[in-house]
Amino acid sequence: MKIGIITSGGDCPGMNAFILELSKLCGKNNYDLIGYIGGYKGIEENNFIKLNFDNISGMALGKKGGSLLLTGRYEDLKIGEKLIKFKQRIDEIGIDWLVVLGGDGSLKAAKKLSDLGLKLVGVPATIDNNIIGTEYTMGFDTAINKTLQVINDIEDTATAMPGKVYIIETLGGDCGNIAKAALDEGAADIALIPENPISDDELVKLIKDKFNEGNKYLIMTICEGLNKTMYYSEFLKKALNKKVHISIIGHQQRGGSPTAYDRYVARRFATQTFNLIKKDISGKMVCYISGKFKNCDL
Ligand code: F6P
Repeated sequence: MKIGIITSGGDCPGMNAFILELSKLCGKNNYDLIGYIGGYKGIEENNFIKLNFDNISGMALGKKGGSLLLTGRYEDLKIGEKLIKFKQRIDEIGIDWLVVLGGDGSLKAAKKLSDLGLKLVGVPATIDNNIIGTEYTMGFDTAINKTLQVINDIEDTATAMPGKVYIIETLGGDCGNIAKAALDEGAADIALIPENPISDDELVKLIKDKFNEGNKYLIMTICEGLNKTMYYSEFLKKALNKKVHISIIGHQQRGGSPTAYDRYVARRFATQTFNLIKKDISGKMVCYISGKFKNCDL
């Protein structure tokens, strides 16, 4: 049995741990594991390497962020002819199954490839945690923890020099899950996210209320997709007559060693993926729902 694997779209912590675990399971069962380089582009260019646990286990992969296979955003994934070409390329070299790790766009293309008759399993892997069908996507926990760490550090100086407002911009594209998690986990006082728009007047009132209720400083996360970080920094300075500082965390949130939880999820997703292949169940995405690792339709 020959299994191909790609990491596609934005990388996320846990991708390497997944590859390592899958290589272990393939090795034990005498399956070949072929890693395409750079996501879907690797398929198009027939650019791949043979992966096996013996070769890669020494690379301390489990604890490394990013992806040893490299990833990429492929612009033309919606074009049917491209997908037919991908399938031809895969068939040419005798790959029986394709495993696709990635976010929304990557998995939508995977679904189309599966509809073309390619045996395939999708794996939700994005720091954004925004894939329909799963409550958790690999990498989210690491990204939240990075955000909380930044806020913890800021709080030290905020406590020492009270009275200021801190705006912390998080990744997530148009999806506010990371910014909101900082609020849910008690690190931020306010989270501004595209899913829950708020007027300038409402925001000013909210911040004033927090200070009146006893806040010594105010921490506000803002999702990058709102594209209003600089605007709020200037606007709030004037509206509140307070110092406003901004921190744009950026891609630090996407890199770095996966948390223990993301390593665990990576291993569980890999086992789930392998079991689907072994049972010859194609067109599924591994997922996490109500405390259980399962699979759902792509
Ligand atoms: O992969 C998801 C993500 O990290 C988003 O949170 C972010 O908006 C985007 O990718 C950034 O993508 P790129 O690194 O391609 O600019």
